[in-house]
Amino acid sequence: MDVELLAVAEADKPVLANLIQLYQHDFSEIRELPLTRHGTFGYSYLDHYFTEQTREAYFIEAGGELAGFALARGDVDPDGSWNVAEFFVARGHRRKGVAREAARLLFARHPGVWTLNFDHANTAAAAFWPSVTASVATGPVEEVDVFEEVPCTRLRFRVG
Ligand SMILES: CC(C)(COP(=O)(O)OP(=O)(O)OC[C@H]1O[C@@H](n2cnc3c(N)ncnc32)[C@H](O)[C@@H]1OP(=O)(O)O)[C@@H](O)C(=O)NCCC(=O)NCCS
Repeated sequence: MDVELLAVAEADKPVLANLIQLYQHDFSEIRELPLTRHGTFGYSYLDHYFTEQTREAYFIEAGGELAGFALARGDVDPDGSWNVAEFFVARGHRRKGVAREAARLLFARHPGVWTLNFDHANTAAAAFWPSVTASVATGPVEEVDVFEEVPCTRLRFRVG
């Protein structure tokens, strides 16, 4: 599968907002995410990805089709590490290795230390991230249980 990571231009912010709705709908199965009266999910950080140097937004394309997005932050820890803030592959593109390749491309943008969290209840992420990080990390993948609204696992690893 031909997978690409494309920086989201500010003009495409509404496209990213649409994908974030799909992502949140998936997440509403495992976290309490109430719908607004407009039938949407609220997301407070969209603009930050277009105003802050420490945040990056990418579309994931698979076979030339829009297939998801990845949001990364360089400001979560004050040590130069990067963090996978949000990561989504649309249902029609899943289980084809799209996320695995997109994650590899994302990490390659910033060789060094990366972190990410996944909810224990997110069975897809709980299978996906340990598998992917084990294959890309150049050393051990540190794994710590944390509580951020719900029980999560935090991974910290080095790539490149
Ligand atoms: C998690 C997610 C990104 C995986 O995307 P994907 O493109 O289907 O993942 P891949 O096809 O690259 O999967 C790679 C490997 O991860 C594991 N995996 C992925 N999804 C899985 C699932 N639902 N159940 C079990 N294992 C899974 C498998 O080992 C898989 O390899 P295999 O298909 O050869 O068995 C996708 O399900 C998603 O966007 N979910 C909703 C949003 C989300 O939870 N994002 C992560 C936030 S932390």
